[in-house]
Amino acid sequence: MAKYNPFDEFIKVMESAARVMGINEEDYVTFKYPEREIKVSMPVRMDDGTLKVFEGFRVQHSSVRGPSKGGVRYHHAVNADEVRALAAWMTFKCAVVAIPYGGGKGGIICRPREMSKGELERLTRAYTDKIAANIGPSIDIPAPDVGSNAQTMDWMVDEYCKVKGESLYGVVTGKSIEIGGSKGRAEATGRGVCFVTLETMKKYGLNPADCKVVIQGMGNVGSVSAKLLAEEGVRITAVSDVSCALYNEKGLDIADIYSYIDGGRNLLDGYKGDCIKITNAELLELPCDFLIPAALENQITAENADRIKASFIIEAANGPTTVEADAILEKKGIKVIPDILSNSGGVIVSYFEWVQNLQNFYWDEDDVNAKLKRQIVNAFNDVYEAREKYGCSYRIAAYIVALNRLVTARKLRG
Ligand SMILES: NC(=O)c1ccc[n+]([C@@H]2O[C@H](COP(=O)([O-])OP(=O)(O)OC[C@H]3O[C@@H](n4cnc5c(N)ncnc54)[C@H](O)[C@@H]3O)[C@@H](O)[C@H]2O)c1
Repeated sequence: MAKYNPFDEFIKVMESAARVMGINEEDYVTFKYPEREIKVSMPVRMDDGTLKVFEGFRVQHSSVRGPSKGGVRYHHAVNADEVRALAAWMTFKCAVVAIPYGGGKGGIICRPREMSKGELERLTRAYTDKIAANIGPSIDIPAPDVGSNAQTMDWMVDEYCKVKGESLYGVVTGKSIEIGGSKGRAEATGRGVCFVTLETMKKYGLNPADCKVVIQGMGNVGSVSAKLLAEEGVRITAVSDVSCALYNEKGLDIADIYSYIDGGRNLLDGYKGDCIKITNAELLELPCDFLIPAALENQITAENADRIKASFIIEAANGPTTVEADAILEKKGIKVIPDILSNSGGVIVSYFEWVQNLQNFYWDEDDVNAKLKRQIVNAFNDVYEAREKYGCSYRIAAYIVALNRLVTARKLRG
């Protein structure tokens, strides 16, 4: 059997969208090839005195609509194919939500949880030095991803500014507020998921108070989505983390669960609220109106898709549904709002952070949240209209909206 290659999966979905649009291969062939791929190695002195060489990547998939934009993943299994696919998805995510960026992504093969703060800082500075000639506020703008965080970005911006001898805060996003981060950035992805869910309810004439919502994953994205949806009166009947899932058909006390996990505790470790404990696999198959996978990729597969009972899936995680599962869900009439739209709140507010850095003028949080709502709701409506026009799934509609913008930009540039 051929090895799973996420970049090939990306090409398959893009080609399906191109077929539905009726465009020629020449119009989109450039998006099958990343513009630039960089492979680097970083010798790092470890705390025990040994020298260890780490490998890393930066892929710039497209700059047709603006500088490349995308996170840097710190993970032991990250590889070139994965980074290439993630970079391409960023191109399409930025295009579907109409922000003026192309797509990029980086990765460093490492085990961040097993490294000291000093080792991580030396590794991050060495990686930044190696890619400094190819990144910049108008070239390619990294951000945090799995295994990296605001501290990582703070080191990156510091190293880059040293190399360039200038204060260029717009080189990375997701920084701490004190050194150019944006208010509202930390909650932006979950807030965007909440806006997309509420807009879907509105489109289908559903009253939020009558909807049952199930959320897999109570991390950064899932917990904020749960908190904000509960504040809107939505009944959250199940949530989970890696340890277990909590279920109450009448609705969970989300504010209580949120404060319980805030201290870093997991749900299995003695949460005593009014609910029963079930497994993550059982959670995915619960009857509900909306299922929000907000944990990991490959959760809804050919194996369990037929047992999913939700009416809508809002993909908060990246790639939670496999291509085979997508086909099964479509046959069952389950509508899937795709990741490139649903979880775009983070990159939208990253864009706002970059704009604030370039202007050296900072906005208050209400302003950021209102602008996020306008941008993501407009994108939702563009995708909704494309779906009506072409009679396709939301995923293909999102790719059509993005591809249309990319192909138009490509043609205009000549
Ligand atoms: N953080 C962002 O801004 C952002 C932006 C876009 C997309 N995403 C995507 O959203 C997803 C979640 O990201 P996050 O930042 O919330 O991560 P996180 O690490 O903060 O949270 C992940 C959650 O999933 C749970 N989990 C881990 N393994 C699990 C398993 N096997 N089964 C069930 N639950 C499991 C964890 O316990 C945790 O509650 C990822 O796919 C990420 O790529 C995140």
